[in-house]
Amino acid sequence: MRVKEALNLCEERLKDCGIETCKSDCIFYIAHLLGIHPSLLPLEEEKPFDLLGELEEFVKKRCEERIPVQHLIGEWDCLGRTFKVFPRVLAPRGATELLVETVIDLIGERFGDEPLRGLEVGTGTGCISVNLLLEFPNLEMVGVEIDPVAVENTLENALLHGVADRLKVLQGDIFNLCPQMVEKGEKFHFLVSNPPYIAERDREKLPPEVKYENPVALYGGEFGTKFHEYFAWNCKKILHPEGFIALEFEPFQRERLEEVFTCEGWKIEFWEDFAGNPRILIAFP
Ligand SMILES: C[S@@+](CC[C@H](N)C(=O)[O-])C[C@H]1O[C@@H](n2cnc3c(N)ncnc32)[C@H](O)[C@@H]1O
Repeated sequence: MRVKEALNLCEERLKDCGIETCKSDCIFYIAHLLGIHPSLLPLEEEKPFDLLGELEEFVKKRCEERIPVQHLIGEWDCLGRTFKVFPRVLAPRGATELLVETVIDLIGERFGDEPLRGLEVGTGTGCISVNLLLEFPNLEMVGVEIDPVAVENTLENALLHGVADRLKVLQGDIFNLCPQMVEKGEKFHFLVSNPPYIAERDREKLPPEVKYENPVALYGGEFGTKFHEYFAWNCKKILHPEGFIALEFEPFQRERLEEVFTCEGWKIEFWEDFAGNPRILIAFP
């Protein structure tokens, strides 16, 4: 069998068991088996493929157990950089790449070479902080993460990418740590977060893969905006006057966020994804 045929076989099998992302899942997994980047797979299509046993195992785990492909591979890319993904830690998603790119643009526009200090709430794999640290050598980040496994995951990726000396991760709950930061008079140039933002009412609609994620990474209260609202109410005090907040959210939450942030006196902007949906909120104090 050639790589091309293995790809077709994999795709058909995943499609038959109703996996919508069958094509990309197979591309990523077969590239992983071959030890190459997925973008290089088209160049390998005519080569022989002799890893059918491993492929069978993958199809079984995807179809029967619904383990997400990111967890089967154990790593995932974010903005062209590869991040280890520990069990039950949320893998980087597309909208988060937009969040990181937005923050990179804003830092470039608003600040120069002075020492900068950023805060990330909910670091997960560390894909946001690590990407930012790699872009800005004058930046130091503080991360807050409640899940101890995710803390380890962030630290490992920071080490792998050579930025661990500029990232401090506090294991804890932001709702407890933020008041302590205010009390200590801590200041940041920006706060960035892809917080848990699935609304309670959507809990039942989620695909079976979700059981492999830690619920603490997913749900953000009744409307999914618990974290965003908390930042609007409490985080002006920890920002420099020229600073900003950048947050990921779901399109249906836009109106609520606009109301809460404007009510608290923030100036806000929304950034859209490629499909034209608002996904990123930027707020200036
Ligand atoms: C949606 S994930 C984002 C992970 C990563 N930043 C990313 O974008 O891929 C949210 C993260 O917030 C963490 N988290 C949830 N509640 C928290 C809290 N109260 N304080 C700090 N971190 C929290 C979760 O453990 C999870 O890692």
